[in-house]
Amino acid sequence: MMSNQDLDSLKKAAALTAVEFVCDGMVVGLGTGSTAKHMVMALGEKVRAGMRLRGVPTSMETALLARQQGITLLDADNVWVIDVAIDGADQVDPHFNLIKGGGGALLKEKIVAASAKQFIVLVDHTKRVPVLGGAFPLPIEVIPFGWGSTAREIEALTKSPVVLRERNGAPFKTESGNMIVDVHLARIDSPRELEIALHLIPGVVETGLFVGRTDLLIVGTPNGVESYPATRT
Ligand code: 5RP
Repeated sequence: MMSNQDLDSLKKAAALTAVEFVCDGMVVGLGTGSTAKHMVMALGEKVRAGMRLRGVPTSMETALLARQQGITLLDADNVWVIDVAIDGADQVDPHFNLIKGGGGALLKEKIVAASAKQFIVLVDHTKRVPVLGGAFPLPIEVIPFGWGSTAREIEALTKSPVVLRERNGAPFKTESGNMIVDVHLARIDSPRELEIALHLIPGVVETGLFVGRTDLLIVGTPNGVESYPATRT
């Protein structure tokens, strides 16, 4: 069993590999989470060494860190041309499909990933799974209005427990003012079908399923960093 510190060093190693794909003048989508944090800090070093970069952050936390690192950020209402988006994930299956949203930033993360010419995913080796689901629940961002009815519909569709995410005893609110329900699915055999079906439920804003979006998976392992090119589907 690896300590959190050991896992963090694997995340950092993956992040350092990822930033080598960033070139002068690029617009970079900046993910959220402990893995993405290493990537933003490594990009900050490149900026201080003279590289010209502009970033599109996927959360206020990332925006703050990026500014501290001297990375220029594009406004939310710009029409971005993002060269590469780099982000972490909570689970990755053998087809490079992901569960994301452990940190609650899934909506902005998916918009940024979808807007990018290339989407690079960074994980430590413990996040690779034969099938999505199981230990990690699927986060779904829902509109506050009627969230209970939306959750009931999700429960009926998935036949799985749906739990409202809370923080400090109150419903967790996303940066877009929505709520998150976590769906405890034993396994997700057909992620694309599930994503489509979830989007048909009124009140669902976005799901943490990232299907067919990965271009490159970078994995930090105890034996070194491994990279796997993927094909968008
Ligand atoms: C946040 C995310 C993160 O990318 C995901 O939770 C992984 O986080 P970490 O790198 O801290 O393990 O999707 O919404």
